[in-house]
Amino acid sequence: MRLFSRGRSLFLCLSTCIGLSVAASPKLAFTNVRSTTKLADETRNSTTNNVQYFEVTLGNTASQNSTSAWLTTPHTVEIISGQVSTVIPGQIKRLAAGQSTRILVGVQNSNSVGRGTAGTAKAVLKDATGTVVTTSASFNVTAGIPVYTSSSSSLGQHESPSWYDNAKFGIFVHWGVYAVPAYALVGKQYAEWYWWDMTYPNNKSSPTWTYHQNTYGKNVKYDDFIQNFTASNFQAKDLVDLFAASGAKYFVQVSKHHDGFAIFDTKNTSNRNSVQMGPKRDLLKEILDAAKQYHPELRRGTYFSLPEWFHPDYTPYKIRFPCTYGSLGKLPDGTTGLTCAGWSGGPAPDPFDTTQTWPYTGYVKSPTNYIVDVQGPQMEMLMNQYETEILWCDIGGANEMSSIAPAWFNNVTNQGRSVLINNRCGLSTYDITTPEYTTYAATTVKKWESNEGLDPFSYGYNAQTQPSQYKTPTQVIHSLVDITSKNGNYLLDIGPKADGTVAQPMVDTLTSVGDWLAQAGPAIYNTQYWAYNSSEGANLRFTTTTNAFYIISFAYPDPTNGIVITSPIPIVKGDTVKLLGGSGAAIPWTGASGSVTLKPPKAESDLVQYAWAFQVNYQ
Ligand SMILES: *[C@@H]1O[C@H](CO)[C@@H](O)[C@H](O)[C@H]1NC(C)=O
Ligand SMILES: *[C@@H]1O[C@H](CO)[C@@H](O)[C@H](O)[C@H]1NC(C)=O
Ligand SMILES: *[C@@H]1O[C@H](CO)[C@@H](O)[C@H](O)[C@H]1NC(C)=O
Ligand SMILES: *[C@@H]1O[C@H](CO)[C@@H](O)[C@H](O)[C@H]1NC(C)=O
Ligand SMILES: *[C@@H]1O[C@H](CO)[C@@H](O)[C@H](O)[C@H]1NC(C)=O
Ligand SMILES: *[C@@H]1O[C@H](CO)[C@@H](O)[C@H](O)[C@H]1NC(C)=O
Ligand SMILES: *[C@@H]1O[C@H](CO)[C@@H](O)[C@H](O)[C@H]1NC(C)=O
Ligand SMILES: *[C@@H]1O[C@H](CO)[C@@H](O)[C@H](O)[C@H]1NC(C)=O
Repeated sequence: MRLFSRGRSLFLCLSTCIGLSVAASPKLAFTNVRSTTKLADETRNSTTNNVQYFEVTLGNTASQNSTSAWLTTPHTVEIISGQVSTVIPGQIKRLAAGQSTRILVGVQNSNSVGRGTAGTAKAVLKDATGTVVTTSASFNVTAGIPVYTSSSSSLGQHESPSWYDNAKFGIFVHWGVYAVPAYALVGKQYAEWYWWDMTYPNNKSSPTWTYHQNTYGKNVKYDDFIQNFTASNFQAKDLVDLFAASGAKYFVQVSKHHDGFAIFDTKNTSNRNSVQMGPKRDLLKEILDAAKQYHPELRRGTYFSLPEWFHPDYTPYKIRFPCTYGSLGKLPDGTTGLTCAGWSGGPAPDPFDTTQTWPYTGYVKSPTNYIVDVQGPQMEMLMNQYETEILWCDIGGANEMSSIAPAWFNNVTNQGRSVLINNRCGLSTYDITTPEYTTYAATTVKKWESNEGLDPFSYGYNAQTQPSQYKTPTQVIHSLVDITSKNGNYLLDIGPKADGTVAQPMVDTLTSVGDWLAQAGPAIYNTQYWAYNSSEGANLRFTTTTNAFYIISFAYPDPTNGIVITSPIPIVKGDTVKLLGGSGAAIPWTGASGSVTLKPPKAESDLVQYAWAFQVNYQ
């Protein structure tokens, strides 16, 4: 606690030199008041629809570490404004000296104040008796969710919904024609890239090209796999039951990947879909309907690839990316130089005879162009007919999102709903960033989501992957905890087989993760990151809520020395600690913030697997 040493010696001198016992007190001040575009619609049938969240930042600038300088009793935060009134006061129970926190306050526009009206607001902190402790300066705010327009300054106001911020864990599903060959170099290439990887390069330096020739022969075309994409054992209820069993709070189903084969009804934009061919079923609708019916608590998202590798009408929009993209490097279709043609548009060259091309089954010629006839209408189908709550775009490139997105945002806002877009929709603004098969090393305040497969390096099912190579429950849980502690969400992918079943190792892992979350969920869901992780190293992570603080240990607690926490955690005498998933007994602890030791009895620690989540309940 070097931070406080100067204040402490002054304090010690005052009390010892003058002989007085001077009780320190908190120095509380608001540093920011911000209107968000988040709705407080935590549940779909909540009565709070259209309540807007304001976010206030409260700091405690008291300069020494006696807990008498902490906020340790329940306080509320209200907004004072000519344009809005408070309907859900913010709550705070604990704020250590030298720390600050963000608090959400639900407000509604005053009578006759229209949505998106500019105004001013102050925040007021009150103690349990209703006495005002401090009032903020006046800040400029926007009262109500604004009506979105196509300008980037307007679209840039859109934020991740609060339901998404709170959800933390989602399941990603890559399921399409690529599940038929289900092949990639394990740990190196994505199986859903089969078609591309057999085309570039089209020689024996491509494992996929070689595999295809040896397994199917040169005369089997990619589209010949469509008939074997049967979904013959697929029951959507099984899939959504698995999502729920994993403890996920949302899912993102791939609706169309780069091969252009959609698993939804693309109407007159294309016949290249599972309704016209293969299973002859609207698989996306089945999944969304099953989720609505059996697990209405799950939020329903869809992935959509903006380009199609080999769509004949995509050619004018050719996207290039560095040749080093991907683990092996995606090689050019004859292009040399620093960039390679990535999404080049069709027709697809025959990888075994470059004088020929392969068919693009189900292609419908665009009357105008790919963007207005195919891409835009299909995205609107996901938004409006399929009512997706997450539009998880991929690749970006040419698009008409700046006209589609505001219409969608306004439509759902009018319905009291809120939706999410990621940073791959081709817009300069977005709600989240999406690190892929990686994560961020530190807390990132702009909301983010890390995505990866249970497979060592594939989203689509790879039949080459051995059961022992999939991620274990311990790996998944540690990633989820680490990401949550840094303000991220974790989108974990599975790839079903062509018949619609999910490989047993993936089912087993998801079920174990769900078992852990059923006990330790309070340390994950609805938490906020805590920004004062000064020194804890590899094995401890922290999350926080209004009423409790969470310490999550990746290591089995040392039965002799316990768990020593040197970060300035907000614990005071009288707080009780329990192990989530334990017996419920109070866990002994000693020391004070900056040097706390938790001493869980071995019998308690033995009740838990994978990660040990301790709940510090504020007295
Ligand atoms: C909706 O309200 C009903 C009745 O109060 C409740 O049983 C149900 O759990 C709620 N659903 C959601 C998604 O919150
Ligand atoms: C400050 O914290 C340290 C470490 O926990 C403790 O030893 C010391 O007594 C505290 N000082 C005051 C003034 O509370
Ligand atoms: C707040 O809004 C007023 C009126 O539009 C403007 O003059 C002022 O500069 C704004 N203040 C800040 C801090 O943006
Ligand atoms: C395969 O094709 C790529 C791209 O055309 C080329 O760079 C490479 O040398 C070829 N490799 C073999 C083994 O022919
Ligand atoms: C399709 O499935 C049949 C029956 O299992 C098999 O004989 C054939 O090789 C498969 N073809 C392709 C292209 O997957
Ligand atoms: C599909 O139908 C809509 C209206 O029904 C029409 O505007 C659009 O041009 C059609 N698209 C194609 C590709 O024919
Ligand atoms: C608004 O969304 C609903 C579905 O929630 C859809 O039926 C309707 O067509 C949409 N309206 C517009 C104008 O897109
Ligand atoms: C906490 O600090 C450790 C050590 O510097 C680091 O490995 C870890 O990622 C940090 N956690 C967060 C949530 O920032």
